[in-house]
Amino acid sequence: MSAAQSDALVFFGATGDLAHKKIFPSLQAMLKRGHLTVPVIGVAKAGWTLDQFRARAKDGLEKHGGLDSAAFEKLCGLLRYVDGDYKDPATFQAIRQELGSAQRPAHYLAIPPVLFELVVEQLGKADCIKGARVIVEKPFGSNLASAQELNRVLLGAFEETSIFRIDHYLGKRPVHNMLFFRFANAFLEPFWNRNHVESVQITMAEDFGVQGRGAFYDETGTIRDVVQNHLFQVLTNLAMEPPVRTDSESIRDEKVKVLKAMPSLDAKNLVRGQFRGYRDEAGVAPDSKVETFVAVRLEIDSWRWQGVPFYIRAGKCLPVTCAEVVVRLHRPPTMFHSFDLAANYCRLRISPDVTFAIGANVIAPGEEAGSRTAEMLGTRLPRAEEMDAYERVLGDAMHGDATLFAREDYVEEAWRIVDPVLKDGTPVYEYEPGTWGPTDVDSSVAPPGGWQNPTVKSP
Ligand code: BG6
Repeated sequence: MSAAQSDALVFFGATGDLAHKKIFPSLQAMLKRGHLTVPVIGVAKAGWTLDQFRARAKDGLEKHGGLDSAAFEKLCGLLRYVDGDYKDPATFQAIRQELGSAQRPAHYLAIPPVLFELVVEQLGKADCIKGARVIVEKPFGSNLASAQELNRVLLGAFEETSIFRIDHYLGKRPVHNMLFFRFANAFLEPFWNRNHVESVQITMAEDFGVQGRGAFYDETGTIRDVVQNHLFQVLTNLAMEPPVRTDSESIRDEKVKVLKAMPSLDAKNLVRGQFRGYRDEAGVAPDSKVETFVAVRLEIDSWRWQGVPFYIRAGKCLPVTCAEVVVRLHRPPTMFHSFDLAANYCRLRISPDVTFAIGANVIAPGEEAGSRTAEMLGTRLPRAEEMDAYERVLGDAMHGDATLFAREDYVEEAWRIVDPVLKDGTPVYEYEPGTWGPTDVDSSVAPPGGWQNPTVKSP
């Protein structure tokens, strides 16, 4: 794999929402760190001029993260804009012209996947593919068959090593740091296996709804939106074997192995929910059966994990916004029969704070025969100067480092696991906004000892 820096960034869908919210702020942040010096060519069909495009960038920065006048001025110097239809070869001739002498452009497709084939074909015809990388957004397909089709389209024009499938969760520092935490310390390994771990639970809770993205969400649902991608990435980081080296392929090989060991999801191991009021959202069908909450039970049929249930729970309009993992251990054999001992656990919080905690039984203060759980805790808030996930993944893609991107075999395995329940139309139970999902979840798909609901202190 070449690790040469991309010498231009072309981004399609430049007048869209993603560019406004995420791409412009990331470009400004990269500039401030001195990580962006190459031309940035926005492409869209909006009838805009370069000045209008710059004004849109400015608006995006003002609304999402803050405008830095000096950095913005430099960004304006790098911005180019090509307006045109993706069906029209002239659009791609204009891109070719803007690329000038660039040899290794990165083409970022921030557009609906149905347009990938057309854009890739046009890029090829306009001689914009040689030496290039392609960056694509999630969701990568909507099931196994469509992901395979997208892979066919991209692999028809690019080598796998030049394809960067974004999952911004991987760009989050605490998610990536899980690997460091697991493999740079000796104390976890002795108990990080089926002999000691009773269950693993991953919760991604959001206390808000679909935030004006009703039309998108109603086509997607929680499984496709965050489980198949973000939360499977968290799960594979927790469950993978130590990679033999730290290069991207060694790490990604181990992650794929985890997915390969997972049987496809069975409907009996799934609870879907929908918050009351979802069907009144703009863009949502009045009789929608799409889930805004899901709880699933998964298995990893490997030497390390066989028999240990892995639970994932995610949803909108839950009581808090928090992403957290709890690895619960088997109870110890004990002579303290009169105590109601809880299971020890390891708690890893990804957001809003970054926490590592071990839950242990201690004698409750002031009591002779009562115990409580005390946490040994390391916690911190993310620092303002830390790289945002988008900045990290965009920078890595332009640098040719594929570690934080989903590989072809990985995305297909991930879809293979959830595919059966996407098709089978299992019931969707209503839940009250601000609760932990439908009450059925408590009984049917829940870890032994129950879900550990995260609490979040207000800042
Ligand atoms: C996105 C989903 O991929 O991730 C959203 O489409 C979700 O529905 C978001 O809210 C969560 O990411 P973050 O970085 O805001 O926690």
